[in-house]
Amino acid sequence: MPTLAWRFEEFSEIDSTNTWLAQRAREGEPEGLIVRADYQSAGRGRLNRTWEASAGSSLLCSFLLRPHVESDDLALVVAAVALSTREALATRAKCEATLKWPNDLLVGDRKLGGVLAEVVTGPDGFAVVVGVGVNLTSYGASSAPATSVLHEVGAVPSARELLESVTLALSPRRELLECASGREKLRLEWEEALSTLGRKVRVVRPGGDVEGVATGIDEHGSLLVDVNGEMQSFNIGDVVHLRTVEPS
Ligand code: BTN
Repeated sequence: MPTLAWRFEEFSEIDSTNTWLAQRAREGEPEGLIVRADYQSAGRGRLNRTWEASAGSSLLCSFLLRPHVESDDLALVVAAVALSTREALATRAKCEATLKWPNDLLVGDRKLGGVLAEVVTGPDGFAVVVGVGVNLTSYGASSAPATSVLHEVGAVPSARELLESVTLALSPRRELLECASGREKLRLEWEEALSTLGRKVRVVRPGGDVEGVATGIDEHGSLLVDVNGEMQSFNIGDVVHLRTVEPS
């Protein structure tokens, strides 16, 4: 696969980078468009939540991808972006983050950022719009513990600089998505990056919460949880980290 030609659009204000890019995808925009904004008036988070960030305080961006994968493997597409963001935070900001399944960025147990993916179908097949929000200088008011790059390491790159690094880190991972062995490599990298594994977790689902020990990620990106000795897999839900389980 030839290396993707990334293209950038920037706004000082937008409703939501995901909403804007999803519309472009519906209209047939080719893969590789990236949009970044200083401020979103209607930013969205996972599970129908809002995502609020004051102007200039965060990296707020979305990537348009059209990988040749089955719909079963979409979680790996999203993981590729989350892993690239994590790498960029380490290299450009010297900020070491882990991932909480599916794709929250954490420092310790504090949320540094999140990823929101949306699938768009149109005349050119399906596209995945993957949005990333990273708290750079502030982290707003939230009931859950949160943090920012500034708070963790005392200095921050600009949102544009961090986005450049995320994009650089994404190019090779985007290529890995095209073949089964590449996807397996991504799955293994994802397992390494997840602080969820080895922990007691509560999976919060509309059908009822389940508690157990998170043990791994299956080939499609579902979370494997040992629930009283029975292995169950979850492909949707919110996960609460309860405590670390020491190896016996
Ligand atoms: C989460 O709930 O943790 C995911 C948050 C994702 C927020 C980003 S900010 C850029 C992009 N545009 C949006 O409206 N949401 C995503």
